[in-house]
Amino acid sequence: MVLMNLLKDNFGRKFPYIRLSISDVCNFKCGYCLPNGYQKNKGDNRKFLSLDEIERLAKGLSELGVSKIRLTGGEPTIRKDFFEILKILKKKSGIKKTVVTTNGYKLDQIAEKLVESEIDGINISIDSLNKEAFKKITGHDRLLEILKGIEELQKLNFKNIKINAVLLNGINANEKSFNEWANFIKSNEITLRYIELMQTGDSIDYFKKYHISSKVFTNYLNENNWIFQTHGKDSGPSKNYINPNYKGKFGLIAPYSKDFCKSCNRLRITARGDLRLCLFGNTGINIRHLIQRDDQLEELKDLILKQLKFKKESHYLELGETGLTDNLSQTGG
Ligand code: 5AD
Ligand code: SF4
Repeated sequence: MVLMNLLKDNFGRKFPYIRLSISDVCNFKCGYCLPNGYQKNKGDNRKFLSLDEIERLAKGLSELGVSKIRLTGGEPTIRKDFFEILKILKKKSGIKKTVVTTNGYKLDQIAEKLVESEIDGINISIDSLNKEAFKKITGHDRLLEILKGIEELQKLNFKNIKINAVLLNGINANEKSFNEWANFIKSNEITLRYIELMQTGDSIDYFKKYHISSKVFTNYLNENNWIFQTHGKDSGPSKNYINPNYKGKFGLIAPYSKDFCKSCNRLRITARGDLRLCLFGNTGINIRHLIQRDDQLEELKDLILKQLKFKKESHYLELGETGLTDNLSQTGG
């Protein structure tokens, strides 16, 4: 039987892809996300989703036609049962692809285990290839370990590696940095994607200081013979560029660009079981009460389908809207 994607909104968009945060906790202090490090939310004592809850949730989602789950955080690999979660998703859920977004802080130690767990892809955040700049942005001097982790993955012949870098004025939004990355992907089959900085509730001053239009990067791509790769059907909001002289690709995620939301193909679920229809959405409801017992599956599916009708056409970021979002550590970027 071919599974139809049942998750469809009022604007004709389909949602085969869920980003599931499994922990808010992060050990990094990225200036645009958690400049003072992770702080426990004192008003919210709920624990993060348990293994059983994740298993029921993933089964329900898979029956709704979801084919891919991305585990995010905070930092997802911080969870002690991280590999058990991977195992459930890979072996017991019906979900076809499981991918992970990580800051890579212990990638060199877990690369082999990740490959053994048969994950289908990994996104690693590296804002700069310059050791000092990396430390300044994240508060941690771990660039070399992360790069070593990537080498380990490649030695094990792991293919689907993407690196995300947030575009920051005065730090990495210049020709020197673009060239460093170009050099890096020349012989590495890796996609390097710049993300235009997004304003969140917590980061208004940071945004004013460091936001720069992604045009600086598209200008660079155009001047250096990078060719826009036509959008794949389910490729989501990243625009990718190829160049015959390079093994890797460049990509750009520009949330303020016109029509960005048209290619939205994902929903989000927070580590405490809130369904978020948009990274910046004002709408989000808790679905956790429906993953407590196996016999709630139909009710769960019903609620998610109904909620989807409330998904708005756009995030309205250009109007200064930041929705519920204080920072992206709650919803995994
Ligand atoms: N703007 C853009 N990207 C962000 N991320 C976190 N916060 C922001 C922000 N305010 C990115 C991280 C990571 C991804 C999950 O989200 O750098 O690559
Ligand atoms: Fe942690 Fe990612 Fe936020 Fe950086 S962007 S502080 S790595 S959750």
